[in-house]
Amino acid sequence: VEHLLGIKYLKANDIDVIFKTADHFKEVINRPIKKVPSLRDITIANLFFENSTRTKLSFELAEKRLSADVINFSASQSSVKKGETLIDTVNNILSMKVDIVVMRHPNVGAGVFLSKHVDAKIINAGDGTHEHPTQALLDSYSIREKLGSVKGKKILIVGDVLHSRVALSNIFALQLQGATVKVCGPTTLIPKYISSLGVTVETNLKKALEWCDVANVLRVQHERMDIKYFPSTREYTQLFGINKEILDNLGKKIVIMHPGPINRGVEITSDVADSNESIILNQVENGVAVRMAVIYLLAQQIKR
Ligand code: CP
Repeated sequence: VEHLLGIKYLKANDIDVIFKTADHFKEVINRPIKKVPSLRDITIANLFFENSTRTKLSFELAEKRLSADVINFSASQSSVKKGETLIDTVNNILSMKVDIVVMRHPNVGAGVFLSKHVDAKIINAGDGTHEHPTQALLDSYSIREKLGSVKGKKILIVGDVLHSRVALSNIFALQLQGATVKVCGPTTLIPKYISSLGVTVETNLKKALEWCDVANVLRVQHERMDIKYFPSTREYTQLFGINKEILDNLGKKIVIMHPGPINRGVEITSDVADSNESIILNQVENGVAVRMAVIYLLAQQIKR
């Protein structure tokens, strides 16, 4: 593939290649000297039109570990505030000889749009409620690391699926690798098209947790929430919040994931987020190696 715009554009073999490359980079970043010189001649711009902690820092670190030159752009401190368009903004940045653009944007399809209008490799770091492909890759990579493989595993995605780019990219990535995916959440927060993706719905959290090997708990996205969709936060937590008591009563251990940022005490309690079953910080750690792999593989297509 020419860009990483979404998991829906990938094949199973693309994910295998990314993971094998990430295995190598994971070993590299655990060495005393955590850098390789591979991308000394590559310049990367990180364009964030929406807030981020993990994704922004993880991309920047991945790029620096590969020895690329890096420039960072936050829309809130830029001339976007004076009315500059996306294409003008990006073309001005590209005229400084940038090879790869990593972009987070609130609009669905922003990465695809950019890929059609500018001459650079585009990596989607989250486009509205659509896709977050590197999050799904690092999530699958973390499941593979914890359980040996993704194939044949039962993965539950819990919560606000409707507004979640993490959920959609995870569904595509997990199914490509042979996992079975179920979602659980309030019916108002489950999109109508979900069954057309081959995903089943369970509205009883206990039954859903009894079924799964892994529960990926989504953040309740208060900033995208309209009152018409949402039970109150208290009702949400009562019906769909993951706490220690519900997990202790399952009679088996399951792996707990969360993409972050966590609303502690809303979708997950602190004792679960910080438990031995949680791989939340492993996800963050693996994000650097996975993003190094994605950037490295795309950079191999650039004429140098
Ligand atoms: N998981 C994730 O995308 O986190 P940030 O919004 O902090 O980047």
